[in-house]
Amino acid sequence: SEIKTFTPGTVANVSCGFDVLGFALDSPGDEMVLRRTVEKTVKITRIDGYDLPKEPLRNVAGVALLAMLKEYRGDAGFEIEIYKKIKPGSGIGSSAASAAGVVVAANKLLGEPFSKTELVRFAMEGERLASGVAHADNIAPAIFGGFTLVRSYAPLDIITLDTPSELFATVIHPQIEVRTADAREILKKNVLLKDAIKQWGNVGGLVAGLMKSDYGLISRSLEDAIVEPIRSILIPAFQEVKLKSKEAGALGGGISGSGPSIFMLSKGEEAAQQVKMAMADVYEKVGIDFDIHLSKVN
Ligand code: HSE
Repeated sequence: SEIKTFTPGTVANVSCGFDVLGFALDSPGDEMVLRRTVEKTVKITRIDGYDLPKEPLRNVAGVALLAMLKEYRGDAGFEIEIYKKIKPGSGIGSSAASAAGVVVAANKLLGEPFSKTELVRFAMEGERLASGVAHADNIAPAIFGGFTLVRSYAPLDIITLDTPSELFATVIHPQIEVRTADAREILKKNVLLKDAIKQWGNVGGLVAGLMKSDYGLISRSLEDAIVEPIRSILIPAFQEVKLKSKEAGALGGGISGSGPSIFMLSKGEEAAQQVKMAMADVYEKVGIDFDIHLSKVN
């Protein structure tokens, strides 16, 4: 018994929703082959694409799977092959894709004893290893698909959100690496009430805009008063990319996860194409290497 999976990259935070909002991209995504073995151990036999540790306890997929097996009433062992397509440290949920992919695949091979929310909980152990904090805003959309809200961490409560039919995302990735752990370290531990008020107004607005297909409301709500002002200094030409994207018709956007990728949302594929060109143009002019992806949000 063997299973092959594809797990997409994800955009976490989505401006105002630090650690709670996220959505799945069409591509890129990690591929994995999972095989049940007679031996009751977890073995990572192959990692293609990037140089990552194969010892299960030092690998995000390994720790996620071990967290799951700890709660499985039975004996099981697995062999994992990982074909990594999402660059670590790019800001589109590279670690989450590997951690989510492996638990979804293992759950299938075991006859689905665990719920999706339980799978999120196991995969979060991968995030704990990768960034020091077990956040679920990349894991939840990687497992549930579409757009998700982590309404609560304790107990874990994940809400899937409807999205408008014409919503597209453009994500540009400048070729520098930002470690999530570092990008979290620089954040302030306290938030001013006046900033919190802005932020929860926008989170509510964004969720309502998505559910009502109100693009104007989505656009007004894509604002981050707390995290972006601090993290954006790590990202080359951030303000310029945002400005030119908006001029090209984007609804709005911000840092994808902990960066350095930047995401923009647009209404319609044509608008998203225009935004894609505008974003690429900024980095071409300043001479920064990048790759760029366009996805439907659904
Ligand atoms: N919410 C997390 C952060 C996402 O911003 O640190 C990391 O991809």
